Amino acid sequence: MAALSLLALASLALAQTSLDSFFPPASLVGFPGPTPTGNEPYEVATGPAAPAQTGYFPLVRFRPSDQPANGTYDPFAVSFGNLSPALSLPPTTFSPAFANSSALIPPQCSLSQVHLLHRHGARYPTSGSAPASFGVKVANSTGTFNATGPLAFLNTWQYGLGAEILTPFGREQLFDLGVSFRVKYGHLLDTFGNGTLPVFRTTSEDRMLKSALNFAAGFFGIPYEDQYHQSIIIEAVGFNNTLAPYETCTNGNNANGAAGTTAANAWVSVYLAAAAERLTALSGGLPITAADAYAMQQLCAYEINSLGYSDFCPLFTQDEFRAFEYSFDLSFWYSNFFGAPITAAQGIGYVQELVARLTQTPIATHNSTTNSTLDNSAVTFPLTQPIYVDASHDTVISAILVALNFTSLAATGPLPTTHIPPNRAFIVSQVAPFGTQLVGQVLNCTSPSGTGPAQSYIRWLLNDASVPLTNVPGCAPDPYGRCPTDTWVSAMKTRIQQVSFARDCLANYTIPDIIGANITDGRPPATAVFH
Ligand SMILES: *[C@@H]1O[C@H](CO)[C@@H](O)[C@H](O)[C@H]1NC(C)=O
Ligand SMILES: *[C@@H]1O[C@H](CO)[C@@H](O)[C@H](O)[C@H]1NC(C)=O
Ligand SMILES: *[C@@H]1O[C@H](CO)[C@@H](O)[C@H](O)[C@H]1NC(C)=O
Ligand SMILES: *[C@@H]1O[C@H](CO)[C@@H](O)[C@H](O)[C@H]1NC(C)=O
Ligand SMILES: *[C@@H]1O[C@H](CO)[C@@H](O)[C@H](O)[C@H]1NC(C)=O
Ligand SMILES: *[C@@H]1O[C@H](CO)[C@@H](O)[C@H](O)[C@H]1NC(C)=O
Ligand SMILES: *[C@@H]1O[C@H](CO)[C@@H](O)[C@H](O)[C@H]1NC(C)=O
Ligand SMILES: *[C@@H]1O[C@H](CO)[C@@H](O)[C@H](O)[C@H]1NC(C)=O
Ligand SMILES: *[C@@H]1O[C@H](CO)[C@@H](O)[C@H](O)[C@H]1NC(C)=O
Ligand SMILES: *[C@@H]1O[C@H](CO)[C@@H](O)[C@H](O)[C@H]1NC(C)=O
Ligand SMILES: *[C@@H]1O[C@H](CO)[C@@H](O)[C@H](O)[C@H]1NC(C)=O
Ligand SMILES: *[C@@H]1O[C@H](CO)[C@@H](O)[C@H](O)[C@H]1NC(C)=O
Repeated sequence: MAALSLLALASLALAQTSLDSFFPPASLVGFPGPTPTGNEPYEVATGPAAPAQTGYFPLVRFRPSDQPANGTYDPFAVSFGNLSPALSLPPTTFSPAFANSSALIPPQCSLSQVHLLHRHGARYPTSGSAPASFGVKVANSTGTFNATGPLAFLNTWQYGLGAEILTPFGREQLFDLGVSFRVKYGHLLDTFGNGTLPVFRTTSEDRMLKSALNFAAGFFGIPYEDQYHQSIIIEAVGFNNTLAPYETCTNGNNANGAAGTTAANAWVSVYLAAAAERLTALSGGLPITAADAYAMQQLCAYEINSLGYSDFCPLFTQDEFRAFEYSFDLSFWYSNFFGAPITAAQGIGYVQELVARLTQTPIATHNSTTNSTLDNSAVTFPLTQPIYVDASHDTVISAILVALNFTSLAATGPLPTTHIPPNRAFIVSQVAPFGTQLVGQVLNCTSPSGTGPAQSYIRWLLNDASVPLTNVPGCAPDPYGRCPTDTWVSAMKTRIQQVSFARDCLANYTIPDIIGANITDGRPPATAVFH
């Protein structure tokens, strides 16, 4: 029997190999036709207006249960936290001062360098997380309940999502990001030294690598292999990796990094109590808790991102989706943003790399998450590229924003777990959605009259909206969010001196009540007890 199936396998492989000879590769077939290329596009300099990412084709928009047919609120776009698709944000998202700002380079400026830090695309849920557990609960109970109305689909529904890897839509997001980045910034490729290939970086995790390769396919076109070098940094416990710093930050993986879950769970029991009763009444014998209802909202998000549509979505109201967003805001704030004690330290390694690139000076001291083997080599960590592209994760990008001291995102202070405060400064779907992009433009600008000497400036765009730098000493208010590069770099050097990876990430300390400690700087508070 075993021998037979081995034989069958072998002959299948043989058939496969012999079939291949019927389909020779393009290199053998020849006859490609003419293949001239055109000028590099440079939309940020030549465009009359900045392009905007406004859609998420081919996913289907749904209506919350209380939304009329002509309603305009689109929860999938703005209320799914880190499970939202990245969309271009209005210019005034982070400050009313930026009404005239966009991704277009400002007047009287030329662009010398661009730094892109992006997230991977839409993915399946984490192995064994709430959506999968709810799937097991339903499977265990099938036949014992008879749901009705909008929940009737649950009688035959089965959990069918993968885990961890990119969904087809996630691949599209990164391919599209690569295409858009080429159309905006392609001209900078002309300023690479002749014979020098760009080095882009990602981590070894499957969805990270595939995100980087889909980006490359969009940016360079296929085959992309001979057009750049892909650095794949090991993402695993104990390895230094600025794009996955939690692998060495001990305190990020113990109680010091866990307050986000506590805060989100507290909020879930507030905002989904009524939904749990409503859904239980429809379930015909399956008790639905608030935690189950939360799993169902997550299933809505993950199924849309994976399958294009989800029957779970129309079960919830508009306010329940607004509250769903807030659950992510709480989770990130207290574990991965200004409200957590370990985030400045987690993000600082990337800031050290950024300073190295901006000053063309190798990192002198490797005392955070940088890897000296990789970062001290001009081959694997070049310091003279006009274009830098790094791929990372939601919680890492949020930590890097803290390390970069983008404190306007924390301006409204700690988030309460009892209600949604009006006009909060921090919304995860704006900061860390699937495919989120943080772009640093290094500009060479003369004064508006064109008379003053040209000077180097840097500015930051988060999903196309300028981020204020006015909290940084020496960065004056500017309608485009610019700060003199020297001034900003020297502030980042100060920041690197201030933040201690050894203390914040590795020391043994406990914080009696992290949520009540009102942390707003991403560092251990005065109430931390060091052992
Ligand atoms: C939607 O339709 C209703 C009923 O026709 C109308 O009263 C309401 O103004 C419409 N809302 C919008 C946003 O168009
Ligand atoms: C935007 O530009 C317009 C026209 O030049 C100007 O009147 C306005 O003050 C600018 N707004 C801001 C916020 O800079
Ligand atoms: C499902 O059933 C199995 C076997 O009876 C049990 O071990 C498991 O705890 C159940 N899971 C849930 C989520 O109910
Ligand atoms: C479920 O309920 C519906 C409506 O009450 C009823 O028509 C149907 O027969 C029930 N199905 C089962 C399997 O009990
Ligand atoms: C690369 O070589 C081409 C052709 O000789 C030249 O026009 C271009 O300026 C060179 N680019 C750089 C960055 O040196
Ligand atoms: C640094 O990177 C190299 C190359 O991938 C790897 O062999 C080494 O284990 C890494 N070191 C640390 C501490 O992560
Ligand atoms: C990895 O990081 C630790 C802690 O910051 C540091 O002591 C070590 O030298 C780093 N290793 C490498 C290879 O950079
Ligand atoms: C900056 O712009 C000025 C004026 O356009 C130009 O003379 C100078 O070479 C530029 N400097 C850099 C570093 O690009
Ligand atoms: C960081 O921002 C805070 C205020 O938001 C400011 O007081 C501090 O000087 C900034 N630090 C650096 C190094 O720019
Ligand atoms: C690295 O060491 C320097 C000098 O001791 C210190 O000022 C800085 O805070 C340290 N950086 C990190 C990220 O731990
Ligand atoms: C945190 O803020 C709350 C609300 O303003 C206040 O009641 C509490 O005393 C603060 N906690 C600390 C440790 O400062
Ligand atoms: C931290 O210190 C406490 C109190 O001394 C001790 O009980 C605990 O084992 C220490 N934890 C680690 C990881 O060393």
